[in-house]
Amino acid sequence: MKDNMITVGLDIGTTKITTVIGEIAPDGSVDIIGEGTVPSEGIKRGAVVNLERTIQAIKSSVAAAERVSGVRVDNAYVSVAGNHARALTSHGLAAIRRSQEIGTADVERAIENARAVPLDPNLEVIHALPQEYVVDGQEGIKSPVGMHGVRLEVDVHIVAGAAGPLANLRRCVQEAGLQVRGLVLESLASGLATLDHAEQDQTVVVIDMGGGTTDIGVFKRGNLSHSACIPIGGDHVTTDLAQILKIPMEEAENVKRKYGAALPELADPDLTLEITNAAGSTHAISAFELSRIIKPRIAEIYGLVRDEIDRVLGPVELIAGGVVLTGGGSLLRGVAELARERFRLPVRVGRPRGVGGLTDIVAGPVHAAAVGLVLYGGQQRLGVGSAVSAVPASVPVPQPAEPSSPVAAGAGMSTGRPVSMDFEPPVVTETVVVNPPAPPKKERPARPEGSKSLMDRMREFFKDWM
Ligand SMILES: Nc1ncnc2c1ncn2[C@@H]1O[C@H](COP(=O)(O)OP(=O)(O)OP(=O)(O)O)[C@@H](O)[C@H]1O
Ligand SMILES: [Mg+2]
Repeated sequence: MKDNMITVGLDIGTTKITTVIGEIAPDGSVDIIGEGTVPSEGIKRGAVVNLERTIQAIKSSVAAAERVSGVRVDNAYVSVAGNHARALTSHGLAAIRRSQEIGTADVERAIENARAVPLDPNLEVIHALPQEYVVDGQEGIKSPVGMHGVRLEVDVHIVAGAAGPLANLRRCVQEAGLQVRGLVLESLASGLATLDHAEQDQTVVVIDMGGGTTDIGVFKRGNLSHSACIPIGGDHVTTDLAQILKIPMEEAENVKRKYGAALPELADPDLTLEITNAAGSTHAISAFELSRIIKPRIAEIYGLVRDEIDRVLGPVELIAGGVVLTGGGSLLRGVAELARERFRLPVRVGRPRGVGGLTDIVAGPVHAAAVGLVLYGGQQRLGVGSAVSAVPASVPVPQPAEPSSPVAAGAGMSTGRPVSMDFEPPVVTETVVVNPPAPPKKERPARPEGSKSLMDRMREFFKDWM
């Protein structure tokens, strides 16, 4: 009988660093056996800005998870977010000889041809994810091997990150004592953890509302088919409150979590807060007014999500069957209601699912990415990853389409558990990809001359009690 395997997810976020340790049984079932979360210092908008602080926080988070599990870990699947990530989908083609079945070599050949595209030496491929295959025009084929045809086509979603930020991330993890087993895009991990069975048959937009970034993943029948990152997150809401109310960030964070709402209609109509600002003067603000500060920022984020999807895939209402919100920002009251209003689609808050063990500890949307990393790692190690394949760091990178506006697109064990920690290189499959023409770029309308910024408008609105 094969031993259970230990797989570790390390989610390095802007506000917190979380380590989740999972035990994967040979049948693929996953039990969460350890978790450790510490505040993140040294990450800004998904990228490392202070190596030493990040290394220390990773060490603390890993040590906390090890204490809970009683297992020592020495490698992890690590999340990647940040505005440096770029994504494009390429179309690949392979000719099949007449009267022959399509074999794995044909699929690989198709995928390999894709690597012969112009490369940007500053980018590193993180994922190359084959979508469904097309055989002689017949679409929607998950596995073409064994079929007959003369023409095999595949779309591959390629995600690449800037080499510098990725090197910094790797260095922090390695100096914290862990080997990087794989880098995984945050929105891919969040989708893996939150999408339910029915959603894996549809097109669904997963929006991971983090502290420093909002990560978008469009999943088509369970495959990540588009991804992007918006460098605005829940911490911007906190900053808006701190600036407008003239209070410290920690207080603004408390006020947001306890009394904030993304829709004024959902704010407690009977609640008025007394806020003493840094200058010592006290003002009263109703929960309704508080929400009127919060709403424009969340609406701005949703507007950017919509712009990104419209630009690349078309109107969101037409391409998607629903929206799944996750990440800490999805805990803000009213975010789902506002999303329903803005996207005109069914919206739900996605929490990690499909795991056993310490489910209560990883039950919230803040744990979606970390649990998704464990699920991703389990699939990779068992070789059952849907269409997901990790690409080694040395793989050259196709030149992405024009970057879009603000959207970027201890070793040993202390228990007697039958676990296996031996390191295997990431599984590499795929690649025929021919660079498609860049989609026409939709210019974001410039702010009309003389018009005011969001902050200026809010300041003006609330000037009477500031
Ligand atoms: N109960 C809550 N109500 C409102 N907002 C919340 C709540 N809990 C967390 N948040 C917000 O969620 C954000 C943090 O989310 P999360 O932990 O998913 O971010 P992260 O993974 O550290 O960041 P990123 O993914 O951007 O790098 C913060 O802005 C925080 O204020
Ligand atoms: Mg996050």
